[in-house]
Amino acid sequence: MPDILPPPPGFADLAAIVLAAGKSTRMRSRLPKVLHPVCGRPILAHILHALAEAGITRRIAVIGHEAETVRQNMDDYFGAGTLEYALQTEQKGTGHAVQMAQAALHGFTGTVLVLAGDTPLLSAEVLKLLLAEHSRTGATATVLTAVLPDAGAYGRIIRGDGGEVLGIVENKDATPEQKAIREINTGVFAFDAPALFAALSDLSPANAQGEYYLTDVLAILRGAGKTVRAVVTEDTDVILGVNTRVELAEIAAKMRSRILRDLMLSGVTVEDPATTYVDAGVTVGQDSVLEPMTKLCGDTQIGANCVIRLGTVIADSTVGDGCKVGPFAHIRPGSTLAANVKIGNFVEVNRSELGEKVSAAHLTYLGDATVGANTNIGAGTITCNYDGFNKSRTVIGEDAFIGSHSTLIAPLTIESGALTAAGSVITQNVPANAIAVGRSDQKNLPGAEARRRKRLAIPSRRAENAVQSGSEPKP
Ligand code: UD1
Ligand code: CA
Repeated sequence: MPDILPPPPGFADLAAIVLAAGKSTRMRSRLPKVLHPVCGRPILAHILHALAEAGITRRIAVIGHEAETVRQNMDDYFGAGTLEYALQTEQKGTGHAVQMAQAALHGFTGTVLVLAGDTPLLSAEVLKLLLAEHSRTGATATVLTAVLPDAGAYGRIIRGDGGEVLGIVENKDATPEQKAIREINTGVFAFDAPALFAALSDLSPANAQGEYYLTDVLAILRGAGKTVRAVVTEDTDVILGVNTRVELAEIAAKMRSRILRDLMLSGVTVEDPATTYVDAGVTVGQDSVLEPMTKLCGDTQIGANCVIRLGTVIADSTVGDGCKVGPFAHIRPGSTLAANVKIGNFVEVNRSELGEKVSAAHLTYLGDATVGANTNIGAGTITCNYDGFNKSRTVIGEDAFIGSHSTLIAPLTIESGALTAAGSVITQNVPANAIAVGRSDQKNLPGAEARRRKRLAIPSRRAENAVQSGSEPKP
């Protein structure tokens, strides 16, 4: 599913370790934190995507808490074999977690990135910046830092008099002077892999949290005479990790704005960004318009010059150029609309392929259907694709005319140019150019008024007249 880009020049020998073994109590969820979706994509998958976009295709996820669920979910998402995994059964700290990936990288002598799996806003651009600086300076370790107005609980960057990076001190271990430092560790690093693993074996848990801190590696490397550097990022969103569902919503809102901004800058009109929801990875072509309260989910591609009208939801589907969809339409997964299709209000399309210029303008359900080009689907048409046990297909040819309120009982084939009479229940295949009439003939019977009076217990008109004239009605 993700586009795996070739590594940028100079970064041929790259790998990444993503730390995702920690428990996430504050989410109060049975679903592991890193699997919660942000704009339709699991948090961890955002990071893995950003890595691929930065040219890093070798990615090792360190998993522990709910490891099997995380592994299964990521394999389903990216395809088995795309990612590597290292297991950390006991969470003894970030340094220990990285150590768990050492076996997977046995013999690897390139640059390894280390980062956390819970910061979905981390972008490929920031990763490229870090890699470019790391490669340009030839440092053994480069840490990505940010300068914050309030450094909070983040690790503080300790610099020497000449500005050189000496190391990182965790907030819980910091002196009051160190706590005043506003340059913090984002948790994203680039390392020379062999030097990193050598330094990890020198870690000690003699600190406030009794953990093996990855952050201590910087001072260890410096002590061994290696060069340690820092790159400051202006994009402070990279540090935003998801710890609670409040943060989940805040981060999702930021990502949503980013996605909409990119779409608008690429030539898509978004009438009301505040009520428009587009998942990560969705593409929309030039001069298409997204009206308010529209939602484009999952693996969806929208062509150019489309209008997605008010209240429309499109999921895991492809919409060709020049289509008009909505208002209040629902295009469900596995659907394909060719160019210039018109889908009107209260129309649901599910696992269906609609050819060019198909029109289903009102109140229709098309499920498991294939509809040929130029066919018109009348108002209120329903494909009955489910008999309570099985789903069956409805195949309609080109230039057909499906009369209003047709009930199409699948499996069914209606050939090109055929017509179904309005209100028909179509149970048999319809040959090309045939007119299918699947309804009973109309009869016009007399006596509507008498019937109505009888039902409402109103006397007949003759009896009424008799009462008014004072004479007894004849029986
Ligand atoms: C860490 C950094 C801190 C930095 C901050 C940025 C350390 C010691 N501190 O702190 O300097 O400012 O990130 O967000 O590295 N994890 C494991 N196994 C473990 C422990 C953690 O996989 O044994 C994973 C967590 O799931 C998480 C990531 O590592 O994804 C970071 O761990 P966390 O405990 O959040 O580190 P912080 O205390 O935030
Ligand atoms: Ca954290």
